[in-house]
Amino acid sequence: MEKAKINAAKEALKFIDDGIVLGIGSGTTVEVFLKLLGKKIRDEEIVVYGIPSSHQSHISAVKSGIKVVDLLQYPEPDVCIDGADQVDYNFNCIKGGGAALTREKIVISASKKVVIIIDETKYSSKLDRAIPIEVLPFAYRYVTKRLQEMAKKVELRQAEKKIGPVITDNGNFIVDCLIDIEDVEKLEMEINNIPGVVENGLFPSKLIDLMILGNEGGAKVLK
Ligand code: 5RP
Repeated sequence: MEKAKINAAKEALKFIDDGIVLGIGSGTTVEVFLKLLGKKIRDEEIVVYGIPSSHQSHISAVKSGIKVVDLLQYPEPDVCIDGADQVDYNFNCIKGGGAALTREKIVISASKKVVIIIDETKYSSKLDRAIPIEVLPFAYRYVTKRLQEMAKKVELRQAEKKIGPVITDNGNFIVDCLIDIEDVEKLEMEINNIPGVVENGLFPSKLIDLMILGNEGGAKVLK
């Protein structure tokens, strides 16, 4: 799996030029990408400006020598590189395994070009994983009641190495919700229409330009 992530990340390096403003996703695949990018920055003495979508990718970006900036300074990053938990053949994605989905969706939406890097085991004919949903703690009981009307399973994500629920970088809860997905864009809007939902992990294909599928032997770029 690690080799597949490295191969996908290597292919994504081809989108990085000197002076680029980069939207930076989150997760272990992005972490691999940032390590390789750090080497490219040092070897080629280039400058990369980056807008991270989480504390995790902020720390990794700084380690890699990326000049961290924000969306106030650069509201339209040139390219965003991010991972995903599951992707269907039309490029609809489920994201948020790392609880960073809200800022990821903002950075992806703001970017001129969006490249998703995954190992090919995540590429699937159907989206059938639980959808992560970021919820204001104040609205938790109300939101879960509403979600139960449409879902097979609704689960408050629990933290590891901390008691209680996961708290996102924005101070909210994550509810993982197993729902039959027929129409991705419609469901994305329906969930976001519940008062108290901050954002959900359905990323419709219209947000995505390119998919890089890594495997043990190399990587495929799909448009
Ligand atoms: C974090 C995300 C990640 O991009 C997604 O979970 C994939 O992570 P990994 O590369 O570790 O499998 O959406 O919120």
